[in-house]
Amino acid sequence: MNGLEYTKRVFRTFNRVSDGAHGNTRGFHGSLTALSLQKVLDAVDVYGRNFMDIGFGTGVVLAAALTSGASKAHGFELPENQANQHIFHAAMRRISNELVNIPNFSRRALVEFKDIVQVWLGNASVCTNRLYASLFFLQWQVHSLPEGTEAIFTFWNGMELQTQIHILELCSSSKSLDSLVVFRDQDWRRPADILEQLEEFGDSSWSLHCTIKTSMHGSGERKTAWVFFRY
Ligand SMILES: C[S@@+](CC[C@H](N)C(=O)[O-])C[C@H]1O[C@@H](n2cnc3c(N)ncnc32)[C@H](O)[C@@H]1O
Repeated sequence: MNGLEYTKRVFRTFNRVSDGAHGNTRGFHGSLTALSLQKVLDAVDVYGRNFMDIGFGTGVVLAAALTSGASKAHGFELPENQANQHIFHAAMRRISNELVNIPNFSRRALVEFKDIVQVWLGNASVCTNRLYASLFFLQWQVHSLPEGTEAIFTFWNGMELQTQIHILELCSSSKSLDSLVVFRDQDWRRPADILEQLEEFGDSSWSLHCTIKTSMHGSGERKTAWVFFRY
């Protein structure tokens, strides 16, 4: 079986264990088709690498990265979607028992239910020299990427802009990261927008590797993926 056949079987397994709920656009803002995802995983060349999906939904991308040969797959997802862990673990067990012969397959995945951005600590107004200023206190939940993370995938459809910007900040401060997959949307119209944001965080080591036309599972909506490499 090639990578695409494995990924299609991974998608079918997630569909079966989630009773068809996986991949609907409602709730998790959707995911890509198996074919589109495989194109992205091939472009990043996940084989033997430490992969991360920020906003992993049900975890289908993590599982597909592992069946495509990633050595580890780590994901973050919002705490309110914690019930997804049952889908994820049930699918991983089936994949491990019925589909692949990869040692410690399930233990290669780590899923964390954390909002990577937001803890609202409050705000305060200060008055200096007749000028009023409001100070807002926000704290990042995830301050840095785990050491050794090499490739980030984030299908940030429906994600808040602040979260997307924080992801780029995390990427800019990671020493091990060399590949990044993000998607065109109303806030990021050109690859240069992403590169400019990374540069604002003091990181000018990225460039666009390729553009991939993808479509969404279920709705068929077209999405453009940008794969950036660090040089
Ligand atoms: C478009 S879905 C992608 C799901 C999955 N990556 C896939 O491709 O199948 C985006 C996911 O990001 C998650 N998300 C949004 N904001 C987040 C945050 N601040 N921290 C963690 N996850 C977040 C959403 O709950 C949603 O599941």
